Amino acid sequence: MKYGHFDDEKREYVITQPDTPLPWINYLGCQSYFGIISNTAGGYSFYRDARLRRVTRYRYNNVPYDLGGRYIYLRDDESGEFWSPSWQPTRHNVEDYTCRHGLGYTVIGSRYNGIEARSNYFVPLDEDLEIWRLTVTNQRSHPASLSVFSSIEFCLWDANDDATNFQRNFSVGQVEIEDGVIYHKTEYRERRNHFAYFACSGHTEGFDTQREAFVGPYRGWDKPVAVERGRLSNSVAHGWAPIGVHHVKLELGPQETQEVIFLLGYHENPQEQKFDPPDSQTVNKKTVKPIIAKYLDPANVDSAFDRLRRYWDGLLAVCQVETPDLHTNRMVNVWNAYQCMATFNLSRSASFYESGIGRGLGFRDSNQDLLGFVQMVPVRARGRILDLAATQLPTGGAYHQYQPLTKRGNNDVGSNFNDDPHWLIIGVSAYLKETGDWSILDEPVPYDNAPGSEQPLYEHLRRSFQYTLDRLGPHGLPLIGRADWNDCLNLNCFSDTPGQSFQTTTNKDGKVAESVFIAALFVLAGRELAGIARRRGRIDEAQRYLAEVAKMEDTVRKYGWDGEWFLRAYDDFGRKVGSNECAEGKIFIETQGFCVLAGIGLDDGRAETALQSVSKHLATEHGIILQQPAYSKYYLELGEISSYPPGYKENAGIFCHNNPWVMIAETRVGNGDRAHDYYARINPSAREPISDLHRCEPYVYAQMIAGRDAPTHGEAKNSWLTGTAAWNYYAITQWILGIRPSFEGLEIRPVVPKGWRGFKATRMFRGATYHITVTRVGEGNQLALRVNGVPLEGAVVPPPVEGQREITVNVTLK
Ligand code: GLC
Ligand code: GLC
Repeated sequence: MKYGHFDDEKREYVITQPDTPLPWINYLGCQSYFGIISNTAGGYSFYRDARLRRVTRYRYNNVPYDLGGRYIYLRDDESGEFWSPSWQPTRHNVEDYTCRHGLGYTVIGSRYNGIEARSNYFVPLDEDLEIWRLTVTNQRSHPASLSVFSSIEFCLWDANDDATNFQRNFSVGQVEIEDGVIYHKTEYRERRNHFAYFACSGHTEGFDTQREAFVGPYRGWDKPVAVERGRLSNSVAHGWAPIGVHHVKLELGPQETQEVIFLLGYHENPQEQKFDPPDSQTVNKKTVKPIIAKYLDPANVDSAFDRLRRYWDGLLAVCQVETPDLHTNRMVNVWNAYQCMATFNLSRSASFYESGIGRGLGFRDSNQDLLGFVQMVPVRARGRILDLAATQLPTGGAYHQYQPLTKRGNNDVGSNFNDDPHWLIIGVSAYLKETGDWSILDEPVPYDNAPGSEQPLYEHLRRSFQYTLDRLGPHGLPLIGRADWNDCLNLNCFSDTPGQSFQTTTNKDGKVAESVFIAALFVLAGRELAGIARRRGRIDEAQRYLAEVAKMEDTVRKYGWDGEWFLRAYDDFGRKVGSNECAEGKIFIETQGFCVLAGIGLDDGRAETALQSVSKHLATEHGIILQQPAYSKYYLELGEISSYPPGYKENAGIFCHNNPWVMIAETRVGNGDRAHDYYARINPSAREPISDLHRCEPYVYAQMIAGRDAPTHGEAKNSWLTGTAAWNYYAITQWILGIRPSFEGLEIRPVVPKGWRGFKATRMFRGATYHITVTRVGEGNQLALRVNGVPLEGAVVPPPVEGQREITVNVTLK
């Protein structure tokens, strides 16, 4: 069953039934103020860091799902009846419910007893606030007297502490109320210079800021006593649970519409101007008042919303395609690109599945996220690369994560994930290919953020590469360390203690267990680095890198091949992992995809054999499984991978992040049919008709789909924040459609299904717009290109010359 539909024209997903299988969310904000918002207005907001600067409170893993949000209540003051237009939290039988998730905004509303109400929630560009624009229409034939109540619950900033440290937190909450604006100033008296505020454009009949005064003892958000009564009590929170609620009355004639604007924002004051008067404890509001006044004016809200829409139109215009497949078009043109912005911004921190308190930005994850983001806002990609590189350690290794607020490496998780450093090379290379901005390589960047340790970024890349050469194991393959890309293959962990972290517990000295995956990554990164070195005129160096790459390829051929597929690893006993010799876990996806993607086995038939094995042993109708057979019991020497019940997550789940590796690998052996078929199997839009099984949002990728060993085969989990977003975008646009930035220009080398008659694309690249038309005249992948009518040798269209803005490329495929 479907719960909604795509509105392709408006670039919205329209949900028409509120009780979706799981909350279907969207993101508000794309710069520094963010929120997640579900289809029933659940979710929360934060400034930059979902853990340390949480603005509103949310209760995870709740019953029912998804409580805590941006709730509006309407009350019919004649009958006393009240409801919420977003369905939650009162869950009335509303009519004409719709939630339109758009690009950076969400509009939710419904009709109840002839009253239609919709709110548009969005974050204006360059502001640290969100707007809720509520429109209420009286569709009755007689006048209506209504009360509107807004509501949010403040978080006491550090979301982890907020959810755990009640002995302190029940006593620290503080607010001020001035001109109907509610200021949340908890801890402002001491070391914070930031506060939150909640304002309203209507005349406020009253307010509440103490939760219990509003909901009433032993009640919930579904039945607040103050809404039932139709009157707030002007409570001023001191300790306990500060909230923000306004009461506005609306008198609406038949068919009359009125609107109310609510603003929820975050604001910082200069340290020396915190208080007004200076010797008081009163928040200085002079700096924030102009902002509040500006956005309570509907004309400014209109223009901020227009600007947001134009901003997204501009970002998406970078790459637009018109293929015979609707689901490809939808994902590439809108949703996949949009999801890449979310993963770029938030890494794996805040979603319905990521609590926002656990993880900062991952080194490996954020570098990979660039693959799907760099073309949208290259300057932000540049900044991210420099931030990431500054957390690199002098050894070339990297902190596995860093905190976005401090930009410092996260000591709790530490380092020694031996794949990490190479992803920096991959990220930088993607940036160079997209932009041609070679100056980034000369940027001085410190190690471990230590002042004085700065070296050009290029030197960081060299150390990344060297890191593996300094850590080779008994077969000459890279030592795995704590884990490689697969966080759950913990070959040095040997944890037998409940609750220990698999990723940071290390009981072995790590001198034996090796990773074939890192070998493949090393080959790929090494080739990129050689390409970079060569273009910097460092020919000898480039040759040395290529020699190391060739040596590693040799080692993989010797010790990394199992006969019909690539091995995955060697464990601490020097035994094979991912081999036909193993009782379980005989074949893994990672090395099949990544070895071939890196070019290993293309010349000796191993690539085709490995991919044939993937198709035979791992591919299902719901995507490609991570490994088979699933581990049926816990293996001390393998770690977390065997901790999951069969079919879930890394234990034989369909881990969507690595499916695109196989898609790319298929293009490398010229199999466009299979590449696109795999693409379609996990494409969320294509899975929309099976929403009851899939359960997650049909407009974004999920990290995982349950594998065939699970009773729920086909069910998705952990949507939104996953490397799946960038990799799928990269696989479809750059390898299947084949529009691929390279050091020399825009390479165009499609490997598309035989049945496609062709496709069209526009791609902005280095200042020009490329209008690309691909026409199939035969069934193969042989290419002939004409650029502005002139035949081109090869497939790389040179970057635009000075003043050139439009470039037409015609490709015939036969
Ligand atoms: C998660 C992690 C990512 C890791 C993957 C596989 O998605 O964020 O870093 O590579 O799991 O374990
Ligand atoms: C767990 C998950 C894995 C994720 C890791 C992050 O191991 O299975 O997907 O990468 O946690 O810490």
